[in-house]
Amino acid sequence: MDQVAILQQRQQAALLGGGAKRIESQHKKGKLTARERLQLLLDEGSFEEIGMMVTHRCRDFGMEEEVYSGDGVVTGYGQINGRLVYVFSQDFTVFGGSLSETHAEKICKIMDLAIQNGAPVIGLNDSGGARIQEGVVSLGGYADIFYRNVKSSGVIPQISAIMGPCAGGAVYSPAITDFILMVENTSYMFVTGPNVVKTVTHESVTSEELGGANTHASKSGVTHFSATNEVECIERIKQLLSYMPQNCEEDAPVYPYEAGNELRTKLNNMVPANPNQPYDIKEVIEEVADENSFLEVHKDYAENIVVGFARLGGRSIGIVANQPASLAGVLDINSSKKAARFTRFCDAFNIPLLVLVDVPGFLPGTDQEWNGIITNGAKLLYALSEATVPKVTVITRKAYGGAYDVMNSKHIGADLNFAWPSAEIAVMGAKGAAEIIFKKQILEAENQEEKLKEKEAEYAEKFANPYGAAARGFVDEIIMPETTRIKLIRAFAMLENKVATMPKRKHGNIPL
Ligand code: HXC
Repeated sequence: MDQVAILQQRQQAALLGGGAKRIESQHKKGKLTARERLQLLLDEGSFEEIGMMVTHRCRDFGMEEEVYSGDGVVTGYGQINGRLVYVFSQDFTVFGGSLSETHAEKICKIMDLAIQNGAPVIGLNDSGGARIQEGVVSLGGYADIFYRNVKSSGVIPQISAIMGPCAGGAVYSPAITDFILMVENTSYMFVTGPNVVKTVTHESVTSEELGGANTHASKSGVTHFSATNEVECIERIKQLLSYMPQNCEEDAPVYPYEAGNELRTKLNNMVPANPNQPYDIKEVIEEVADENSFLEVHKDYAENIVVGFARLGGRSIGIVANQPASLAGVLDINSSKKAARFTRFCDAFNIPLLVLVDVPGFLPGTDQEWNGIITNGAKLLYALSEATVPKVTVITRKAYGGAYDVMNSKHIGADLNFAWPSAEIAVMGAKGAAEIIFKKQILEAENQEEKLKEKEAEYAEKFANPYGAAARGFVDEIIMPETTRIKLIRAFAMLENKVATMPKRKHGNIPL
């Protein structure tokens, strides 16, 4: 056979992975193959493969008889919407996508290229974990990847899609990356599976319940997105990337935008007259952001805070917003962690932050205190204080207590703080405040209820408005809600060249 024919034959064999039968079995499970996924992910014809002829080195347990080109992972680079990305896609048809020494080396090679050349890494995970026949070299391979994940963190965006099993220590590579996406019913992540759980804790639980997409999207917050199928998952990856720069030295791409009538009169009626009545902050976001540009992150987790990417006049922003429609928008452990991590991603990658505030304070109770609301609430305070990207705040209604400080107040480095006329900036709600500071007068009153109402009104008049804060410059401007979008477009444009630095240090010590 001539040399060209040999090459073609070898390439054909590599393209088949673990063979037609295993590909069929993969399809029967409702899963695509590693190569089909890459085809959907990357711009047509842009994929360049690296390491197609790599094979494993294991000579135990008859492994020398079973050798597949590529060794269970397809690696290389290509483009998404014309922008360079590095990719690896695990091939479940080859030893269940398990990670051998050489499989790990292939992933490390593209991670090294990505960090040197400043472009995102996207991992499509579908793996039975460590290649059991290889022992410690496989574990070493995982650690080599983890180490690179950490070195890349904050330098290039890293995205992990979980499209099959992901168990044991293998979960820690996705966990270190910036965003995780999971596919419902065909993917799961856990440190120990249902059998070990049964033995150790006597709990009976299915893989889906223990670590499926819905579990991690709503209960643990491990995954940022949950997709109903693989095609949707891949589309979401592309959408997510559209808000990000290639690396920490660059800015996110700017989308074409034509200025029009930016008044949003609907915003004038968004906040109900009764301060205890909820409204949906996502409706505010939809009005403020460019049309259909909002991509919510962690949609089903800690719903009392909303985070996500959007565009404003074609430019990427990150939004952190209290959600009055869930737990009155209170800050608790999970919402603080969720918002802190999102804030840090935006800050690392030069994405300006918009913070919408309607927060009655921190959630009281033993559950919160014993699980560390102090340490966890401090994460958000730390993250927003630390962020040096342009930071703009809009207080739509309540900004009470410590939560006022935390939610991107002027005092922790916000550049511009707006308030709607409905804003209430105070230590606490008027009723609670009146009960404490006028306790004696209320107790001594003939009609205590009436006295409380009177004192509540007195306190509300003084503090349930934005004027006290504006008089001190803590609020820069009180704006008509309908002008919010215009004000924000101008504010972020004005802040475009912001330069802010922190004192020289190795790194800060965020309360983890
Ligand atoms: C080698 C493996 C493998 C592995 C699966 N295969 N996992 N080969 N090492 N870890 C092979 C199977 O032998 C089989 O080969 C093929 O992949 C498909 O596996 P099936 O079992 O037929 O598929 P399915 O029924 O879908 O089950 C998938 C699975 C199961 C749930 C992933 O295979 C499984 O439980 N595997 C072991 C998982 C595990 O314990 N891994 C180690 C975890 S510890 P053939 O030839 O039949 O196609 C770990 C530590 C990481 O990962 C530490 C990092 C620090």
